[in-house]
Amino acid sequence: MTPKWWHDAVVYQIYPRSFCDSNNDGMGDLQGIIGKLDYLKKLGVNVIWLSPVYRSPMDDNGYDISDYQDIAPEFGTMEDMQQLLAEAKQRDIRIIMDLVVNHTSDEHPWFIESRKSKDNPYRDYYIWRQPKEDGSVPDDQGSVFGGGAWEFDETTGEYFYHIFSKRQPDLNWENPKVQEEVHKMINWWIDQGIGGFRLDVIDLIGKEIDKKITGNGPRLHQLIQEMNQATFGKKDLLTVGETWDATPEIAKLYSNPARNEFSMVFQFEHISLTWKYGDKWNPIDLDLPQFKRALTKWQVELAEEGWNSLFWNNHDLPRVVSKYGDVGRYRVESAKMLATTMHMMKGTPYVYQGEEIGMTNVAFDSIDDYRDIETLNFYKERTENGVAPETMLAAVHENSRDNARTPMHWDKTDNAGFSQAQPWIKVNPNYPEINVEAALEDQNSVFYHYQKLIELRKALPVIVYGDFEPVFEDHDKVFGYVRTDEQHRLFVLNNFTSEEVVLNIPVELQAANVECIISNYDYRQQIEETVTLKPYESFAVLLPA
Ligand code: NOJ
Repeated sequence: MTPKWWHDAVVYQIYPRSFCDSNNDGMGDLQGIIGKLDYLKKLGVNVIWLSPVYRSPMDDNGYDISDYQDIAPEFGTMEDMQQLLAEAKQRDIRIIMDLVVNHTSDEHPWFIESRKSKDNPYRDYYIWRQPKEDGSVPDDQGSVFGGGAWEFDETTGEYFYHIFSKRQPDLNWENPKVQEEVHKMINWWIDQGIGGFRLDVIDLIGKEIDKKITGNGPRLHQLIQEMNQATFGKKDLLTVGETWDATPEIAKLYSNPARNEFSMVFQFEHISLTWKYGDKWNPIDLDLPQFKRALTKWQVELAEEGWNSLFWNNHDLPRVVSKYGDVGRYRVESAKMLATTMHMMKGTPYVYQGEEIGMTNVAFDSIDDYRDIETLNFYKERTENGVAPETMLAAVHENSRDNARTPMHWDKTDNAGFSQAQPWIKVNPNYPEINVEAALEDQNSVFYHYQKLIELRKALPVIVYGDFEPVFEDHDKVFGYVRTDEQHRLFVLNNFTSEEVVLNIPVELQAANVECIISNYDYRQQIEETVTLKPYESFAVLLPA
């Protein structure tokens, strides 16, 4: 495998509206991010993925873009963006932009033109269909945010297609002009000096609407290869596609360097296992053996070809310590255990803001305190269809995207030090206890554990490139694996429960003397025949060669 700079990189995702508010309007902004770069440098990350900061009516918090080449005034200006790039560069941090090109905002000039008339030059930038003979919608396709995917537009008497909200019309990738415009825009951003792109729902761009094929459409890989060739393929950038339906086979198509598509993709198998029948509003408990099989499969199948991304969290997902850890007595231990589990695997780790201090889900009492369009739409739809409001609110507490979107906790002052004004969404009330200031003062905090994991990745090639082999595969409480390269054998054990677990260690993993590189309890010096793991205990040891 030819080494790439992003193989040992660690990415930090910022959701700008919730990160840090420099001008006290209740909304995070670019100057707020600039003010925190030293904090990120201290953590040790070398890439920032910035959720969208482009001009937008904010129907979906910026994933509805009305101008790809300008910054939303609530976040700052293009000068602020240039300053952010320059200041990040001084600290050896690259910025990757969120590229949302499956759809635009309905306020994008292309769509404003497109809806004007059937013969407008921009008409075919979007997907329009005539009503059926009886005047009804072209077909029964649904949208991800609830309701149908077709919206009637009175001016021309036709329907346009939107897979997300009706204010996010899908671009028509069948139209070569759309392709050209997007390529031009990508190159413009590359010229600004960015480090790459996270490509929003990119598996939807090759769709065949009339056959109701949305994800993994027939033209998908050709379109990506053409994008690669016309834009980032010539540069040494990190590109990561968001691909909900990827299997390892599909992920290899995207991330095998010989195919010239992306550096890697995000797959979500380990996340959606706790959604009954793929429905996030129907949460179920984690089945650890099934979960381990999923992660192991990705590790093993992408070992020689392609590259994994490693993540627990992002702006669409609940906080991992609430999901797979313990937010009570073992919050710190379980947050560290989850971090070790993920960061000792092969791939590029992504840390979502607040994860590094063990931030938790929020449980607002009233649906009125939620802001996310998906949460609000589904709450309404399901309660109108007979689901009890308490049941739906419980599901929201579990899986709403707003769990990740409450303001970042900087300190114990008002609004968690995020802003001096009323934030756009309420702060999680546990901020006086869980915040950056407190974490930095405590040598045993989750923060320093992440810092250490990041340092280790830079120092030990076995973490970056070593082979992965599971141990205790069928165990229902422990996730263990061994990473091996020519120099090292790294043995990683993680207890996913609040119970003590006694394990019989295979002979080849026993050792009188080991170098423990990370632990959330005492550092072990040997691995004996039997190991007793404390609640949520986790460690990684280098075994003698
Ligand atoms: C995926 C993004 O992560 C999510 O936040 C957004 O709502 C949809 N794509 C639509 O852009």
